[in-house]
Amino acid sequence: MTASVQPSGFILIVDDTPTNISVLAQTLRQAGLAIRIANDGVGALEQVKREQPALILLDVQMPVMDGFETCRRLKADNTTSHIPIIFMTALSDKASRVKGLSMGAVDYIPKPFEQDEVLARVQVHLQLKNLTDQLEERVEERTRELQNAQVQLVQQEKLATLGQLIAGVAHEINNPMACIANNIEPAYEYIQDLSELIGLYQKHYSDPAPEISELLANRDINFALQDLPRLLDSMDLSAQRIRDISVSLRNFSRSDTNTKQAVDIHEGLDSTLVILGHRIKSSGERPEIMVEKRYSNLPEVACFPSALNQVFMNILANALDALEAVEEPMILIETKVVGDSSVDIEIADNGPGLTALIKQRLFEPLFTTKPIGKGTGLGLSISRQIIVEQHQGRIECFSAPGEGCKFVISLPVGNSDEHNSYQPIAAIA
Ligand SMILES: Nc1ncnc2c1ncn2[C@@H]1O[C@H](COP(=O)(O)OP(=O)(O)O)[C@@H](O)[C@H]1O
Ligand SMILES: [Mg+2]
Repeated sequence: MTASVQPSGFILIVDDTPTNISVLAQTLRQAGLAIRIANDGVGALEQVKREQPALILLDVQMPVMDGFETCRRLKADNTTSHIPIIFMTALSDKASRVKGLSMGAVDYIPKPFEQDEVLARVQVHLQLKNLTDQLEERVEERTRELQNAQVQLVQQEKLATLGQLIAGVAHEINNPMACIANNIEPAYEYIQDLSELIGLYQKHYSDPAPEISELLANRDINFALQDLPRLLDSMDLSAQRIRDISVSLRNFSRSDTNTKQAVDIHEGLDSTLVILGHRIKSSGERPEIMVEKRYSNLPEVACFPSALNQVFMNILANALDALEAVEEPMILIETKVVGDSSVDIEIADNGPGLTALIKQRLFEPLFTTKPIGKGTGLGLSISRQIIVEQHQGRIECFSAPGEGCKFVISLPVGNSDEHNSYQPIAAIA
């Protein structure tokens, strides 16, 4: 790697002897370097506070504050500790040289000055400083990348576990559910038989034993007989709903194979809506969210269904977040065939919309405007990965403040035996 010797900043010369300053200044200026001058330690510290030099040439013996004390203060402050310091000491003064280096100076320049040597040492240290800065930048960049990757891995791991759990629970619910659903019909028939029998008893034994008369007086048997079928009807409806939820959960969490599958996109959208049902229904102050579906007649789309469902989930969950304080909240889901080889899925809300600034950063990993614990800032960046990299599609956001927000996903219809060379990173965020 090559680094430019030309520093972006200047070199600060700290010395109380005018001849020293003029020799140094001339040498460095001739080499095209920018310089500033301070006459003692206090002046040097003030100068550094105003603007940081790329390098400091520091005399040891000075009035007011000597070079050692100046160096100690610069090294003690972590906003200035990284500035390289070169001491200037008399050739004979070995003790000062050692002390300077042990205090964190990078080098020393012996007096009287040899112009070539001064320049050579200064340039070496400027280059080192440049390299160090670049290295630090690279380390920061890599650390950021690693953090992103780590967050995504954790998220992916969590989701895989969650998916298994959901699929397991959905499966376990099935048998008891089937038991309830299948027994409702016979229960209905038995009750009819029994009420018929009771009717006949009442007809033929109009003067029952006192025990029976007492029971009839205390209970509203006629009401019970009328109400029982209605109870069974509502149990039947509830059982049906549990079955729908269970099917949706299994649909939603089915694990993707490594080839694309041809699926009905609407099924994925509907499963996601069922799972988000509790956030769509009205609760407390919040009104029910109107969900309007305008589904077209779509061909099956070759895709990784569970990854795609996560995209729907992320976008719908964001819309639900955005609609929290809206008076008549609405979500519109529209699907369209575009040309002869792609489909569009549009998800729009009438929430507050986005400012241009937020819209610009929307898909960045970890970008969120939500409080900690609510937002992770991963939903859209992962959605983009799934749509663009995994499905070779497009995802775009159309929005302006006060005008709601619309996400448009375009997917190629594709063919289902296409291999997945891309490892999905999927998360609900
Ligand atoms: N439908 C929407 N309406 C308004 N803002 C939205 C909408 N969808 C996304 N956003 C903005 O985009 C940001 C990033 O979304 P996302 O990546 O899902 O992360 P998170 O939801 O965790 O904040 C959100 O914090 C929000 O500011
Ligand atoms: Mg989100």
